[in-house]
Amino acid sequence: MDSENITIRPTQIDEYGFTENLTREAFWNVYRPGCLEHYLLRCIRSCGDYMPELDLVLERNGTIIGHIIYVRAEIEIDSGDKLPIMTFGPISIDPQYKRQGYGTMLLRQSMEIARRLGTGALAITGNIDFYGNSSFFVGKSSGIRYRDDPDADYFLVAELKKGFLDGVSGAFSEPPCYNVDPADAEEYDKSFPPKQKLKLPGQLV
Ligand SMILES: CC(C)(COP(=O)(O)OP(=O)(O)OC[C@H]1O[C@@H](n2cnc3c(N)ncnc32)[C@H](O)[C@@H]1OP(=O)(O)O)[C@@H](O)C(=O)NCCC(=O)NCCS
Repeated sequence: MDSENITIRPTQIDEYGFTENLTREAFWNVYRPGCLEHYLLRCIRSCGDYMPELDLVLERNGTIIGHIIYVRAEIEIDSGDKLPIMTFGPISIDPQYKRQGYGTMLLRQSMEIARRLGTGALAITGNIDFYGNSSFFVGKSSGIRYRDDPDADYFLVAELKKGFLDGVSGAFSEPPCYNVDPADAEEYDKSFPPKQKLKLPGQLV
């Protein structure tokens, strides 16, 4: 294999457009015909729960091939209190570099940065086949449920501080910035180069 130089660092403002396009390329036709995630990324960056120090790119030999973004979130504990945690996503790897370990590298290093910034736990919806390799487990097995679908196997949590979720029982919902309007996303997509939407097997929508 060629020698490679990998850097994971905060995204600069002048790279916002590039990372939106990378996100669009990574998600295009994966979960639905076309995708919304590049618009979601734009919305997250202008919401109050955005943390620039956890808006990260993975550079390979000087070229950005991966991106992840974290957002402040909370678990509503059954006793009524709120427990601050974080969520993240979209996470994107340039399609030509998928399944070569870069997503895992970016995820794990970003989790370590989030931990150092004081985050105790993460909650997301995603595929356990990918996230299970990086200490995520199904939320409902631990007392943390997904408010929209309490029985969901795709709702995952991870402790960044050991014992942070011990004895915690509660519900998680994504922060409001994740609820993007598909019509707005469709409109925003017109500012990108045309790309063919395809209905493919395995899409969720
Ligand atoms: C999902 C994504 C971030 C993973 O990054 P990656 O660099 O491709 O993944 P890795 O090489 O680190 O994967 C490590 C392991 O995770 C699992 N995995 C990764 N992607 C998977 C997928 N789409 N489905 C099932 N398992 C997957 C596999 O076990 C893989 O090992 P293998 O390739 O030896 O089978 C990347 O493929 C991507 O950008 N996908 C499109 C956007 C997306 O789905 N984002 C996540 C939304 S929750």
